[in-house]
Amino acid sequence: MTAVFKGETPGEQFITLKLCGLEKDQQFFEISLASKVIRVHDSSSESMVVFKFLETENQKIRPFYLDIIRRINKGDVFYTSIGRVTESLKNWNERYTYFRRIDSAIGKHILSGNQKLIMLSSNDYLGLTSHPKVKEAAIKAIERYGTGTGSTMVLSGTLDLHKYLEHKLAEFKGMESALLFGTGFMANAGTISTLFKKDYILLNDQYNHISIFEGCRFSGSRVRMFRHNDMEHLKKVLKIYKSHKKKALIVESVFSMDGDLAPLKEISALAREHGAVMLVDDAHASGVFGQNGRGSLSYFNLEGQVDIVTDSFGKAFAGIGGYVAGSKEIIDYLRHFSSMAIFTTSLSAATCATILAAMDVLESDQSLVAKFWQNVKVLREGLLSLGFDLGRSNAHILPVMIGNEALAYQFSQELQKEGIFANSVGRPAVPRGKARLRLAPMATHDLDDLERALAAFSKVGKKLHVIH
Ligand SMILES: Cc1ncc(COP(=O)(O)O)c(C=O)c1O
Repeated sequence: MTAVFKGETPGEQFITLKLCGLEKDQQFFEISLASKVIRVHDSSSESMVVFKFLETENQKIRPFYLDIIRRINKGDVFYTSIGRVTESLKNWNERYTYFRRIDSAIGKHILSGNQKLIMLSSNDYLGLTSHPKVKEAAIKAIERYGTGTGSTMVLSGTLDLHKYLEHKLAEFKGMESALLFGTGFMANAGTISTLFKKDYILLNDQYNHISIFEGCRFSGSRVRMFRHNDMEHLKKVLKIYKSHKKKALIVESVFSMDGDLAPLKEISALAREHGAVMLVDDAHASGVFGQNGRGSLSYFNLEGQVDIVTDSFGKAFAGIGGYVAGSKEIIDYLRHFSSMAIFTTSLSAATCATILAAMDVLESDQSLVAKFWQNVKVLREGLLSLGFDLGRSNAHILPVMIGNEALAYQFSQELQKEGIFANSVGRPAVPRGKARLRLAPMATHDLDDLERALAAFSKVGKKLHVIH
């Protein structure tokens, strides 16, 4: 293995550390570190670099990569050498559970290499990615329209299917209008960065998704966070900005890593009281909450009381893409001014047909959603009775709290040996010291799958002393 340090002059803000020539099966990492080099040491046998981690804009994202090598605190002095990096990388490779290869369709069971695993970490909550009607609709769309659209929506890439899908989505969310985006990430980032400019204050729940924060960053607005789901704190923050005319309140309806619902009724009342625009990211509620899976506004009886909803097709809708729904005025504005919607190739016909078919299934067959929630109940109660801590989850996403990141990775790997695919998540997706396994059952799991999963959790939990 060799390591190349670029820009390793003391005082430089960025280093690119490239590790190459790795042994078979080792991962290739290119790591950009937002840090300040405070000393570079060169000896004949190895290059050595000492750098200090700084609070920079980039740092919010970069530590994720750094974590692969060694966990580091803001302000820590990180001291490494080629030899040490190689050693740490080996340790991490043993525990590294990202980018696991799947050699089958996504479903309740998957194949990783030759190993059959019970999938417990998919957002394909209803199992629609393998639903015969959904697959058939996608195949037929390819036969009729071909694979891609060959253009952006604004030029020659708007199909009748796009128009129809936007119309159905607006109806689905009880809004006047909707606009498609390439992903849910783009729906958040493209909407927020286009609608809110420098004169806005954007009030965010601290656990909002990174796509929301990226949108806020691109907008140039002032961003203020309130403590997660803490209405007293939100009231305090709103009070501070009482006289500020332009503000928006942005939350997820179901938080993706904690699995808890936002108190949307209270938040929307506060938004109205303080004249704030309200945006809800419904990525994890659509499909599984509300009437026929219409999501959180339907569930909380808030249709017509929230200004903007963003959503992803990558979860219960079994596809890829996203959209924003709101008033005709807002959507028309975004359609003509959001660069993330304009300067990008439109969704394929197969994707549109997938989403339309998934909505049809939701409309006509309530048994899938009922089975899904039954499975959530079995898994939740089983894990709690084994003694696991599920944090503040009160929805379908079940975070099995582990705390220590290395232990969470190890737990995930031990589970794989027992035939279970369960992702561990650490920083920056969750705060330091709050690593967890992020689980969600699927509607397609049967009782036997869940019982086998619980038996594996019991065995591994005891082995690693997470439970007794
Ligand atoms: C709450 C939330 N919003 C937005 C996104 C982004 O959606 P997509 O995967 O479609 O880009 C995700 C998914 O990671 C999410 O969890």
